[in-house]
Amino acid sequence: MNYQAGQVITVTAGDVAHGGWCVARPDGGPVVFVRHALPGETVLARVTEVTSRLARAEAVEILTPSPDRVRPPCPHAGPGACGGCDWQHATLPAQRSLKAAVIRQQLRRLAGLDREITVEALPADQDEEPGAGLGWRTRVQFAVRPDGVAGLRAHRSHEVIDIGECLIAHPAITELGLTARRWPAVASVEALVSAGSGERAVIITGRPASTEGIKADSVLRRAGAANHRLTPVRGRGYLGQRAAGRDWRVSAGAFWQVHPGAADALTRAVMTALEPRPQDVALDLYCGAGLFAGALAPAVGPAGMVVGVEADAAAVRDARHNLRPWPWARVHRGDVAAVLRRDGQPGAGGPEAGGGALPAARLVVADPPRSGLAREVVDYLGAAEGTAARFAYVSCDPATLARDIGLLAARGWVLADLRAFDAFPMTHHVECVATLVTG
Ligand SMILES: C[S@@+](CC[C@H](N)C(=O)[O-])C[C@H]1O[C@@H](n2cnc3c(N)ncnc32)[C@H](O)[C@@H]1O
Repeated sequence: MNYQAGQVITVTAGDVAHGGWCVARPDGGPVVFVRHALPGETVLARVTEVTSRLARAEAVEILTPSPDRVRPPCPHAGPGACGGCDWQHATLPAQRSLKAAVIRQQLRRLAGLDREITVEALPADQDEEPGAGLGWRTRVQFAVRPDGVAGLRAHRSHEVIDIGECLIAHPAITELGLTARRWPAVASVEALVSAGSGERAVIITGRPASTEGIKADSVLRRAGAANHRLTPVRGRGYLGQRAAGRDWRVSAGAFWQVHPGAADALTRAVMTALEPRPQDVALDLYCGAGLFAGALAPAVGPAGMVVGVEADAAAVRDARHNLRPWPWARVHRGDVAAVLRRDGQPGAGGPEAGGGALPAARLVVADPPRSGLAREVVDYLGAAEGTAARFAYVSCDPATLARDIGLLAARGWVLADLRAFDAFPMTHHVECVATLVTG
């Protein structure tokens, strides 16, 4: 049976799949990836896309609701509407179970490992607290329509939905009122807030007619979507963040965890995974503003060493600033793969090496983008003459995490622990910290 886009079909949703879908396998039809359904539900689903191997659809009517189903708090979280949230129609504990199932499934498929997984709620999202799972997003990018309306994109579409208020956005972002203004000649407008200091920044891509009345501490301009350079219009261009018991400087364009509780929870998990001791040598790969390096530096002490590697120039400046209290912590600017290639041999520079060489490290933490570890990181960790003994892998993508754990397992590393955190409630995203040790 072939489906057509727009056709409404009756399907029963089976297991959850990576990306916020449930998988339905109707008799005689292709596999259907269904959004807005929950496992076990029979639904009427409108087909949105058909390929030679599968169809995509969205549930428009629920015939047999799951006990985990709730009314989505946001009126735009539904079929044909905003693409930002995937699981608003599930209770928070059910959302975490769905994410745990995806992690388990990816580990089984891509690493050949069968593990029980628990996804932990971050402190602000404990279920009994009112508003749990909402108001956490400290960075939101609004796309702007040709008529100047700022909104959020529909799922797998360039269409911009006029959402007014985004319920997962931090209240200090909503208070800026960016969606109430019109933005002619602007491609996007992005807001960020530090939950710790309350400072806010707004980044405008395009040529705004005016930035008057924007109540942010910093306003910056980006010439075009492909351009990473930010030009300050006013303010100092960075936010003061608070995490792991201290203050951090983080440039508006640099990476910082978006959930107010995530930086603390991940830092604690990384420290537990690595068990740093005085005199240890540690690498923080993809180090951003130096969050993990800054937690490791005091633990390894002046007889130890911490080296961060980061590609983004603004993040490197922030990390160098943030690591100033510990002269035994330094940061290489560059692509992690290139820095490791330049190093040649693992540990080639020895613990005292300077310049481009990375020291021989006993501890390594890596927090790569969604694409996962560069091949060179796997080779560095897997080299027979390598010195790394404990590896903390922080990942925002269960598929690339599982792939890389499989590659490392083939090189003698053992998955000792895998913690997962619900750092993105209402969405399908999840943050993991895997502890790997040499076998
Ligand atoms: C997920 S963030 C982690 C940052 C930091 N660990 C934190 O928690 O704040 C990933 C970082 O890797 C950097 N990055 C991405 N690709 C890179 C590459 N190929 N080489 C070096 N850094 C890279 C990004 O600029 C970003 O700062």
